[in-house]
Amino acid sequence: SDPLRLGIAGLGTVGAGVVKIVRQKAALLEARTGRRIEIVAVSARNRDKDRGVPLTQYAWEDDPVKLATRDDVDVFVELMGGSDGPAKAATEAALKAGKDVVTANKALLAHHGQALAELAETEGRVLRFEAAVAGGIPVIKALTEGLAGNEIVRVLGVMNGTCNYILTRMEDGGLTYEEAFAEADGLGYLEADPQLDVGGIDAGHKLSLLAAIAYGTQVDFASVELEGIGRVAIEDIRQAADMGYRIKLLGVSRMTGRGLEQSMAPCLVPATSPLGQLTGGTNMVVIEGDQVGQIVMRGAGAGEGPTASAVLGDVLDIARGTRLSTFGMPATLLKKAKAARATTP
Ligand code: NDP
Ligand code: HSE
Repeated sequence: SDPLRLGIAGLGTVGAGVVKIVRQKAALLEARTGRRIEIVAVSARNRDKDRGVPLTQYAWEDDPVKLATRDDVDVFVELMGGSDGPAKAATEAALKAGKDVVTANKALLAHHGQALAELAETEGRVLRFEAAVAGGIPVIKALTEGLAGNEIVRVLGVMNGTCNYILTRMEDGGLTYEEAFAEADGLGYLEADPQLDVGGIDAGHKLSLLAAIAYGTQVDFASVELEGIGRVAIEDIRQAADMGYRIKLLGVSRMTGRGLEQSMAPCLVPATSPLGQLTGGTNMVVIEGDQVGQIVMRGAGAGEGPTASAVLGDVLDIARGTRLSTFGMPATLLKKAKAARATTP
């Protein structure tokens, strides 16, 4: 059958990782889908930058919108980041031009997910974002597919690799905040604006996306009660450790009789618990379904390989012909939830 032709905008940590997998695992990807996965064009700001992977065989577009709307592109892969600007413009242009879209951009989805999902459905296209939440952990697939027969009771977890890395390196490695931050940067974990990470905003974006899927509601990032790790001092971490606890940036969402509760804040968790044992850039997502009970998913929440792995999962689903709606049900059926103050951390 015909190849599936990709246009990739953004060749940073994640984009370069995707190019590497497509190049190195071509035969495996084709065997798994029955279609050759081909990159036809790429885009980034700086054409001359060495990205550790050959790019000369692909067409180059300076303008991501042009890339997204090329006749020879079937799937637009958005890996630039940013809730507005070129990421939003190119994603909208791609959908309107009849392309499916795969993105890792939680900021874009947290702010414009409802409108983009509606646009995708109006245009008869697919918009997927597995990589946007918890990096390499296929948590969106779990919620939209494997757990689709459940009513979801609660979703909680650690969803920002940078914060977990900083907190655990400060505790286990005796590093200063600045040293731990620099290491996280070296591993490719940070957002372009790291305040999104340490301010809890990135994790809040992710929590709001999972809540939309879990409870069948429109994304409501604005109502997430947010606190980052900026006020966590080394003394707090030591004091918690002395009492047998660790500090984690923990997100919790649940639908109650009063409405949707969503909170993301530093919390004490027992050091010996699965959450307490989570070190480095690892994420953990706990889902409670009325039929299945509790599911725990743990894995790399950031970085080149894990995030590119999730992007490829979406691309391969499209190659196999998925028509799954963005949030697991038609966007027009998603309800506006009443926001309630969170009663538990
Ligand atoms: P990087 O900052 O490493 O890369 C961003 C890329 O986008 C760069 O190649 C940059 O070009 C390009 N870019 C930025 N603006 C433009 C523009 N106006 N036109 C064309 N290209 C542009 O980011 P990441 O790879 O880390 O992240 C990409 C996306 O993936 C973000 O949405 C992020 O939130 C998400 N994500 C990242 C994870 C991670 O672990 N890093 C994990 C999960 C999701 P140039 O290189 O020339 O500057
Ligand atoms: N900056 C994000 C994090 C990347 O540290 O978790 C993964 O979404």
